[in-house]
Amino acid sequence: MDVSDHDILLVGGGAAGLRAAIAAAEVHPKLSIAVVSKVYPMRSHTVSAEGGAAGVIKADDSLDEHAYDTISGGDWLCDQDAVEAFVKEAPLELVQLERWGCPWSREPDGHIAVRAFGGMKKKRTWFAADKTGFHMLHTLFQTTLKYEPIARYDEWFVTKLLVDDGRVLGVVAIELMSGRVQAITARAVVLCTGGCGRVFPFTTNANIKNGDGMALAYRAGAPLKDMEFVQYHPTGLPFTGILVTEAARAEGGYLLNKEGYRYLQDYNLGTPEPKPVLRSMELGPRDRLSQAFVKEEQKGRTLTTPYGSVVHLDLRHLGERTINLKLPFVRELCLKYQNLDPVKELIPVRPVVHYMMGGVSTDVDGCTPLPGLYAAGEVACVSINGANRLGSNSLAECLVFGRRAGRAAALFASEQRVHHRNALAQAHDEQKRLESQFLQKSGGRERVAAIREQMQATVEASAGIYREEPSLTRAAAKLRELQERAEDVSLDDHSHTFNTELQSALELGFMLDVAESIVECALHRSESRGAHQRTDYPARDDGNFLAHSLLFRNEDGSSRIAYMPVKITQWPPGERIYGRPQEPARETTAAVDQSRQDKQSLPARRAS
Ligand code: FUM
Repeated sequence: MDVSDHDILLVGGGAAGLRAAIAAAEVHPKLSIAVVSKVYPMRSHTVSAEGGAAGVIKADDSLDEHAYDTISGGDWLCDQDAVEAFVKEAPLELVQLERWGCPWSREPDGHIAVRAFGGMKKKRTWFAADKTGFHMLHTLFQTTLKYEPIARYDEWFVTKLLVDDGRVLGVVAIELMSGRVQAITARAVVLCTGGCGRVFPFTTNANIKNGDGMALAYRAGAPLKDMEFVQYHPTGLPFTGILVTEAARAEGGYLLNKEGYRYLQDYNLGTPEPKPVLRSMELGPRDRLSQAFVKEEQKGRTLTTPYGSVVHLDLRHLGERTINLKLPFVRELCLKYQNLDPVKELIPVRPVVHYMMGGVSTDVDGCTPLPGLYAAGEVACVSINGANRLGSNSLAECLVFGRRAGRAAALFASEQRVHHRNALAQAHDEQKRLESQFLQKSGGRERVAAIREQMQATVEASAGIYREEPSLTRAAAKLRELQERAEDVSLDDHSHTFNTELQSALELGFMLDVAESIVECALHRSESRGAHQRTDYPARDDGNFLAHSLLFRNEDGSSRIAYMPVKITQWPPGERIYGRPQEPARETTAAVDQSRQDKQSLPARRAS
């Protein structure tokens, strides 16, 4: 088997991975850095991000307000030390991107333009029209090209992390073009593989988002954190799941039910007034808006289509000029994929799985509990997003924590001397497994697509916008059954060249692990918080659950769950309110005292 060796290995070529690569290269010019990606980096899912990236820039705004919006939007499950680092560094990263060439949209006077975004009280979302991800990724990609030490393995698929004596020493990967299996060893590995939306049947996520990094880390012994928190974005196009950016509502779009009524005014979105303020209600937090859709559907006030119930997004009153200037991609997507023109017609939309708040548990520098393993971006749970991420925090998160993880990994790698003998034996075993379990096997009774469809239906039915114990319990049993059946999958394609069927089978394995983790954590959290709404436990329970769930894998493939206190630095848990200036939050429970004790060891309170 071929072996290549680097100091630092980034798995994933999206915003977090490329930002991490640049940060690592800046630690020392002699470090050897490699980016392994199952797609060409410019095809990473970052490219499809639309609305923008949050970072305080205007004089009427402050870091504390951004932090508070993020923490209350996350229903107090965010680690506040991480949020403080995030809001402080986000503007610096966005300016850095500007210097590398990112064409941010601007005001007529040349200043950076910012737009409103859901759950944010101030305008602080930087954007490049509604193709922000494309421009950010392009900027990062072209910047990596000037660093000679950054090598690339484009279209290589990582199947396993190499771990020896509790320490991560590299990966096993397949070169998709040739089917060649290779060990790529490294002193530090940074996972930047994105989320896992494809575990669900209806998602904004590209086909490549299968939770690869989450499953790789979990199988290697790292815990997954807060996996029960899955974000539904309120406006996906029916059938395709393509995102209609929140920016469409930030620019003034309305959500209408089948009677043409702005139904959000009937719901508690967390605004201080009993009824939401008309001008801001479409910009409520995503979890609340998606929940309101379900209620509206239950009242029979949504429209029925072959692709599920929908409501309408109305942009017509914005006019052609604004739509072309601020939302050109929305218009293009609607014309191409929905055959309608939002300048003149209503857009059918429904909630769609968009983002995973949970992920591989890391500290603020992307370190996982496994020495040598780091994670950043959506694959990781730092955690700044808590129980519900605010739109536009994620692109900025990729930059801030991509940089931190890349730098930390480089510093770690610089100090390590490693012998890879045992790791190489593992790589040989993995190669044999791929041959015997897939490429040389015939006669299996199961098909990849059939198991994947059943998995998706199971997770959607049990761990969707609303959850309850009986269906979660049934789902856990069904997923165990699917895991067993997946052992009996056989492939039609036994070739080595671009064997997409093999890749799908491996991705299915990753997704099954992730699906189990979502259901398991949702079952154990008997409260409602943010995106995790239990109809059988409708209230938030800070006394028992102001805590992160940590899921560990046992040797026999089963799992065990533990809880870790949330880090509170300056904002004790309070009511989740947005839409008015921040006031001191009300303290509620004994858990606050516990969190207070935990924070003794945290950095000193920041002056406001
Ligand atoms: O709606 C959007 O543009 C999504 C942004 C985000 O998820 O951060």
